Amino acid sequence: MFSELMAPPADPILGLSIKFKADENPNKIDLGPGIYKDEAGNTPVLACVKTAEKLRVDNETTKTYLGSAGSSLFNDKIADLLLGEHDIIKQNRIRTVSTPGGTGALRLAGEFLKTCKAGATIWVSNPTWANHQGVFTAAGLTVKTYPYYDYENKCLDFAAMTEALKQVPAGDAVLLHACCHNPSGMDLNNEQWQQVAELAKEKGFMPVIDIAYQGFGNGLDEDAYGLRLMANTVDELIVCSSCSKNFGLYRERIGGCSIIGKDAASADIIGAVLNRVVRVLYSMPPAHGAAIVETILSSEELSAQWHAELKEMRDRINGTRQLLVEKLAEKGVTQDFSFITRQNGMFSFLGIDQAQVTRLQDEFSIYVVDSSRINVAGISQSNVDYLTESLAKIL
Ligand code: LMR
Repeated sequence: MFSELMAPPADPILGLSIKFKADENPNKIDLGPGIYKDEAGNTPVLACVKTAEKLRVDNETTKTYLGSAGSSLFNDKIADLLLGEHDIIKQNRIRTVSTPGGTGALRLAGEFLKTCKAGATIWVSNPTWANHQGVFTAAGLTVKTYPYYDYENKCLDFAAMTEALKQVPAGDAVLLHACCHNPSGMDLNNEQWQQVAELAKEKGFMPVIDIAYQGFGNGLDEDAYGLRLMANTVDELIVCSSCSKNFGLYRERIGGCSIIGKDAASADIIGAVLNRVVRVLYSMPPAHGAAIVETILSSEELSAQWHAELKEMRDRINGTRQLLVEKLAEKGVTQDFSFITRQNGMFSFLGIDQAQVTRLQDEFSIYVVDSSRINVAGISQSNVDYLTESLAKIL
């Protein structure tokens, strides 16, 4: 039976890490997977996480099962983080389950949609995170795309996006990136969110909001603007969140799948269905990451420390965007790269072609995703000269 198997192609994002590790060039630069790095190129454990972990080790009294939804304290804290002080919470209309990372939340959302409607279709932006298609297809959904990024003008193609969304049949799902669009870094502004929310209500499509970078764009509340607006506008909504980046908990695999129903009674049914879907998928989520997050969010002191650490990461990324654009000009690159400073979060496209991406890797040991997506957080004062000199050579 196994002799029929064919090895799949390397993952377009994670596959780069393997190549990077094997590269012996001392100047090599990893701009592949979306992992935050500090000026020294490290991804340290946040200080608030270290403290929360110590508290957990000291105070944990049992390792017994938590149940399919995971920790209810974590789930409540995540709902608060996503929605802020919102009537939906007071009305008891949201149900959250802890998931193995943001990817787990997306897969669960896909399985949930399939339970609601066999053969459901989900529309994702073109381009989108390289794993969206695979996750939703594996959940049995049909995946279609709507236009999003204008590669030529390096901005959002909002007219084409809304034209396409107007054609989405009622009952189909539409995946929207809450902030820090992966891979383009190009986000909707508040006015555009308003229009998309009105379209969702008018056309009856089901918004699925992927919020994997809350706090990396403009701030925790600012980055949830579109999501909260959507929650105010439509009756039903799915939100997939991740604590990988903003809490730096990558390998702990902790995220949340939050579903809003039209009233408390339908939210109860949603919660029961979600639990059932989890039970047959992986039974229950890991507990450690959730315990860290709920400890931080339950403590004023640790929350304040987390906000400060998150701001530090955000500010470094924004500063690096500026630095990259300045250094490119300094190295004599004449093309306009100022769009990089208008984009948010970890990612932007360099806008170079496949042959140039390959040259960067083969000749300079600089690793970017084939689409020319870079992880801006991989750039630092110590590698920016080598990076921009190399780019100047291939441009
Ligand atoms: C990315 O887009 O690089 C990250 O979300 C990591 C991943 O799992 O692909």
